[in-house]
Amino acid sequence: MTGVLRPGYCQLRVLDLNESIRFYTDVMGLIETGRDASGRVYFKTADERDHHSVIIREADQAGMDFYAFKVLDKRTLDKLEVDLNEYGVATERMPADGLLETGERVRFVAPTKHVFELYWEMTEVGDGQGYINPGVRVDGPGGICPIRLDHWQIHGADLDGSRDLFINVLGFHLVERITGEDGATDMAVWLTCSTKAHDIAFVRDERDNTLHHASYLLESWEKVLHAADVMSAKGVSLDIGPLRHGITRGCTIYAFDPSGNRFETFSGGYAFYPDMKPYTWTHEEIGAAIFYHTRELNERFLTVVT
Ligand SMILES: [Fe+2]
Repeated sequence: MTGVLRPGYCQLRVLDLNESIRFYTDVMGLIETGRDASGRVYFKTADERDHHSVIIREADQAGMDFYAFKVLDKRTLDKLEVDLNEYGVATERMPADGLLETGERVRFVAPTKHVFELYWEMTEVGDGQGYINPGVRVDGPGGICPIRLDHWQIHGADLDGSRDLFINVLGFHLVERITGEDGATDMAVWLTCSTKAHDIAFVRDERDNTLHHASYLLESWEKVLHAADVMSAKGVSLDIGPLRHGITRGCTIYAFDPSGNRFETFSGGYAFYPDMKPYTWTHEEIGAAIFYHTRELNERFLTVVT
């Protein structure tokens, strides 16, 4: 891995800042790492080493402002900016003081109208375990307490354009796809820049620049069940789960934050290597692709985005 490394952070719009701070700390179990002059609040998971992975800001409408991928180093950032420009994608340099503890970012809009950022520098605050004989964490901050922000599923009309941009310019690989009734058109694609089963998923949807879910990785299936217990005990609005996907084989739950932004807490999924051929799920098997056990889709899962 030498180019784009992983999803790094995202900026989420929430309707009530204080209610959302309580949700992301007490229920999700993230750690607040800072607040900036514009009122945005920054969080990381206990295990993440960089300063933040989730930023929230109060707004009238829920949804995601932007999605950022960390890249290897400054040279990679500069090269990817040139590559984007040569591919015909305009970029904007965002100054280093625009976000807390974050270096310069390269911002661009994908064909599905989502705003993406690339960056290489963020203050490392560590995971609290140190780097010598770090041991195993035995007491987290409580709540769901995920390992990391893992991936996003986002929707827009020009799926082909965003898919091709991510593969041809940013070096992602196609891992799985769902095809339409014609057997050829991609209705959804799962892409990876790493050995994860996916780092981002695009779904064809007329509603450009929309978020289906932000996903957090848990350690095990037992932790997924624990997350379900936490959600029920804390009155979180559940979408569906616990269940297993056919696609990526992850075991998961979907639920909503207090603003209606869907999130996922999952474990599992296979490891991807670049020599692996993509899996294709046909239109007739879409139920099993999404919800492997019931083999039936849930209307809310298909229709609600922010
Ligand atoms: Fe997901």
